[in-house]
Amino acid sequence: MGKDGQSRRPGATLSLIQKVRGTRDFFGADEALFARVESAALAAFRRYGIRQVRTPIFEETSLFTRSIGEETDIVSKEMYTFADRKGRSLSLRPEGTAPVVRFLIEEKIQITDTLKVFYLGPMFRYDRPQAGRYRQFHQFGIEYFGAASAAADAEVIAVGRSLLAKLGIESRTRLLLNSVGCPACRPAYMEKLQSFLRARSAELCEDCRGRIDANPLRCLDCKREACAKTYEESPKISSTLCDACRRHDETLKELLADAGIAFAAADRLVRGLDYYVRTVFEFVTSDLGAQDAVIAGGRYDGLVKSLGGPDVPATGFAGGIERLIELLKLNAPASDAQVSAGDVYLVSADSPELRRKAFRLTERLRSEGFSSVLPLLDGKSFKSQFRAADKSGARAVVILGEAESEKGCVSVKNMSSGEQVEIAEPDLPRLLETMGVPRS
Ligand code: HAM
Repeated sequence: MGKDGQSRRPGATLSLIQKVRGTRDFFGADEALFARVESAALAAFRRYGIRQVRTPIFEETSLFTRSIGEETDIVSKEMYTFADRKGRSLSLRPEGTAPVVRFLIEEKIQITDTLKVFYLGPMFRYDRPQAGRYRQFHQFGIEYFGAASAAADAEVIAVGRSLLAKLGIESRTRLLLNSVGCPACRPAYMEKLQSFLRARSAELCEDCRGRIDANPLRCLDCKREACAKTYEESPKISSTLCDACRRHDETLKELLADAGIAFAAADRLVRGLDYYVRTVFEFVTSDLGAQDAVIAGGRYDGLVKSLGGPDVPATGFAGGIERLIELLKLNAPASDAQVSAGDVYLVSADSPELRRKAFRLTERLRSEGFSSVLPLLDGKSFKSQFRAADKSGARAVVILGEAESEKGCVSVKNMSSGEQVEIAEPDLPRLLETMGVPRS
């Protein structure tokens, strides 16, 4: 029996275990871009006074069916749902909004002014994998609770824009904006839409035909070409908005225009989740093919109440980290050389005594805050250690040879200027600092 519980014939070759379809590993250049997106997001969120919340990656399945909607693709086809050992139905989170709302209600979080929170982490959807679409993907998202104003929607959109600007990819995106109305005015639109859909049902795919009665708005989100073409002639929701929704939409557009945030009205943008009212928006790109939304969200005023909480208005968005990474790569093709393993590289003569000394010195540099690398293999010549140091992208190479050691000195080579100096060991941190090597 092998460790994995499989019985094995002696001498049989092991089959290679590969990553699960639709998942990704991040390392080297990709990991550096991932970290760049994360830190740009954290910086933008800090600027807007948004606080982090971390929720579990699995929840009771009913949290998602009741919030995202039974008729949506996410709930009807894409959830990773399983029974735990006691038979409870649990699901890996397909998105972050419902878990944040669950947290807010469960912890009875008091909302006096606007509560602004963000999250960041993996989400799971069992969709057909393709470029920009994964089964485990990563989102950052923000949620504002307590503000019914158009200004809250405008600020949420501004956060998204500021993040894209910080990453230098704003010009690769366009902001699409729509209002999907509210419980007061949407029924009138649904009726109009249903009569249109019934009249044109022969042109629609099976999924859309099945949704005409149950959830006609979802039809407009269908990505099949024939359906999308038919929907170009569907009634526009803007013609049936009530006065309050119309005013909200107009105020939002004024605020965005005042802030210099360009947008395009997208009459048939409905989004793939059921909880939205009034504002929906997407930052989309033409550079990534079919999976074009990089940051998307909207207002969901009824959700907190429908999950058993107080009647609290809410608005927010989520962004897809994998898609943003692809956009960043278009700006500057990634290369592994940009990613250094450490700022300082220690090179020592291959004697047990000097290797011990190099180990001690490297630990000292690390405790002083310098990111440092020590080759951990014995028997390496100076030449091959130097070659590795050169390739590593380090800013400085510290050389510990027999001659230096006898004098209590080290040599330091500045890798950008090529200059080399010998200094007493205790002066090393100060010299690195003057060379511009950062401490963390
Ligand atoms: P969503 O549109 O389902 O909205 O997802 C938001 C973003 O996550 C998408 O625009 C895309 O960038 C990324 N994304 C979604 N699915 C995948 C996938 N399979 N692979 C890679 N990236 C993906 C939501 O999730 C809402 N919770 C947003 C929200 C927050 N609305 C209000 N607050």
